[in-house]
Amino acid sequence: MIASTLTDRQKRERDYYNQYAELSKDSSQKVDISPVVNVIEGKETRPWNSYWAIYKFAIDNFNTGDKLLDFGSGPGENAFRLATIGYSVEGFDISEKNIELSKKLFTDQGKSGNFQVSSAETLPYPDENFNIIIGIDILHHVDIELSIRECYRVLKTGGKAYFREPVDVGILDRIRETKIVKFFAPKNTSFELHITEDERKLNSTDEKIINKVFPKMKKHYFFLFARFDKFYRRGSDPRPSVLEKLDYFLFKTFPFLKKLGGTVIYELEK
Ligand SMILES: C[S@@+](CC[C@H](N)C(=O)[O-])C[C@H]1O[C@@H](n2cnc3c(N)ncnc32)[C@H](O)[C@@H]1O
Repeated sequence: MIASTLTDRQKRERDYYNQYAELSKDSSQKVDISPVVNVIEGKETRPWNSYWAIYKFAIDNFNTGDKLLDFGSGPGENAFRLATIGYSVEGFDISEKNIELSKKLFTDQGKSGNFQVSSAETLPYPDENFNIIIGIDILHHVDIELSIRECYRVLKTGGKAYFREPVDVGILDRIRETKIVKFFAPKNTSFELHITEDERKLNSTDEKIINKVFPKMKKHYFFLFARFDKFYRRGSDPRPSVLEKLDYFLFKTFPFLKKLGGTVIYELEK
């Protein structure tokens, strides 16, 4: 990838994540693989948690020899879990430091995986190359139209792509934007809060773009009352969240509440 061809947004994201990778390099090398191993061994599932849920889609779709692309693979933790399922995993990221961390993680743990520096908007893979694509917290950092077209191009016909993303929920996000709420839960660019200058939740226009490229689209909803978890739980707390369980129950029982879900897994089929 030629740095001079990057857009200003891509450069800002790259610079932010190069620094973020440096700050989190110790924790990102210790990967909890229970969200895949416990499910595969039949010990535990957490369908109410969007991360466990997206891994479960990967587990359910697995066939020996399948190639998986981790779309915007960050420091490689998700890729590591996905490789544990048995996939032949490739990943890309705009941050050179994240790619270094991914390579180190896989080498140190004796796992094979291919990682390269690339932007999501111009992928270095041939057409129809992957059986499945998993993207976690990535589309809200990139040019959605260009990236989703690339996703479609490199996915095999009949293959599926899953993206876990934060989405804009009209009224709730208007409340979220008020000064009083921002006082208690700031939204400024920050390494501590892991918020970049350019990230923004997906809205209905973004969704129409995704749906135009992938007419076969399903949505899975999460995160209604779990919004309040951040006030009393650490994001890295491995224990189940009571509020996530409550949301799962509410979405099943009262489907009209889904439109208030702040996190969506997009299930896309080519
Ligand atoms: C919130 S992180 C998610 C990373 C990873 N999927 C995970 O869950 O750990 C967003 C990632 O997007 C990457 N990124 C931002 N803009 C990008 C772009 N245009 N192309 C490729 N990667 C990009 C960043 O470097 C960062 O690693």
